[in-house]
Amino acid sequence: MSSFKPLVFSGVQPTGNLHLGNYLGAIRRFVQLQDSHDCIYCVVDMHAITTWQEPAELIRATREVTAAFLAAGIDPRKHIVFNQSRVVQHAELAWIFNCVARMGWLNRMTQFKEKAGKDRENASVGLFAYPTLMAADILVYRATHVPVGDDQKQHLELTRDIAQKFNNDFSARIAELGAGVEMKVGEETVNGFFPLTEPLIEGPAPRVMSLRDGLKKMSKSDPSDLSRINLTDDAETISKKIRKAKTDPDGLPSEADGLKGRPEAENLVVLYAALAETSKENVLAEFGGKQFSAFKPALADLAVEKLAPIAGEMRRISADHAYVDSVLRDGGERAGMQAEATMKTVREIVGLLGN
Ligand code: AMP
Ligand code: TRP
Repeated sequence: MSSFKPLVFSGVQPTGNLHLGNYLGAIRRFVQLQDSHDCIYCVVDMHAITTWQEPAELIRATREVTAAFLAAGIDPRKHIVFNQSRVVQHAELAWIFNCVARMGWLNRMTQFKEKAGKDRENASVGLFAYPTLMAADILVYRATHVPVGDDQKQHLELTRDIAQKFNNDFSARIAELGAGVEMKVGEETVNGFFPLTEPLIEGPAPRVMSLRDGLKKMSKSDPSDLSRINLTDDAETISKKIRKAKTDPDGLPSEADGLKGRPEAENLVVLYAALAETSKENVLAEFGGKQFSAFKPALADLAVEKLAPIAGEMRRISADHAYVDSVLRDGGERAGMQAEATMKTVREIVGLLGN
């Protein structure tokens, strides 16, 4: 039990198409957590520019992700919705964390290796430092819980390592200023300024796979649009993509065990279960023994039923620039006050004259 006030933070990059993986792995969880927690949801435009973005497209995508949050049901009055670059304290804390984190830690990050590819020398410095900015996003609010998909696990472990090293490096100063908070780490009670944030990687679909290759995750950057269901796809496109989804020649098993070694079949069953908010077992009890030619139309109907209202709302909201921008401005102001309160103490802890 940490004695930090429970606070949820998460971020989504405004790059390309939001897809069903983003929705089931992250955004739907964001909506559910609003009832039990204070939440801050951020469109991370500064993370987006770690790889090249056309400026006009970045602006469009920032509004679109914001619209997706609102269309999915996030309430920007009860909680906070904003874009990262408005709150400059994220960048300020990220710099301090660049000086806390070690090269060796960042060298181990698999997302950097994947995104940089073979030509590492030519990757931006920002892409390498991406995880320290992510740690700053979370810790500038001293957030305790972060809902994300499975691919972000390593970044959240790094966030904890940074918090822990900061708490240790500055422990004397934190004690002198009385800025520490007691928290339980395993059996021990320790004192620190930053919480050791818990990842919330849960729900039925923490890792939605590509419709073309059951071993690759569904991704915004996959060159094949058939690999993913975009939140903006219309009913006909959704049906076509599911019809064309790769499967194996066998029918559906009646037990979950029968999905072992069949990643494409498993993915479609997981999608059905997640969309219907039921278990894989229940889906197989209904469809076990049937062919994919029977299952796919049922999955397509379900996907359309769940996604069409969100897509419609998203289109309506993203066309209203004045409204979307006012949500971001208001959210940015409220987030900025919280972030500045943290940074005032951080500057004192580190010894940066600035308050
Ligand atoms: P990104 O699009 O990389 O900014 O991701 C936004 C959120 O969606 C993060 O919490 C990711 O972990 C989550 N996410 C991205 N792709 C998937 C996927 N294929 N399955 C489940 N969650 C995902
Ligand atoms: N790295 C996350 C992703 O690609 C996005 C992100 C940035 C984030 N900052 C965050 C997620 C803070 C959770 C918390 O999906």
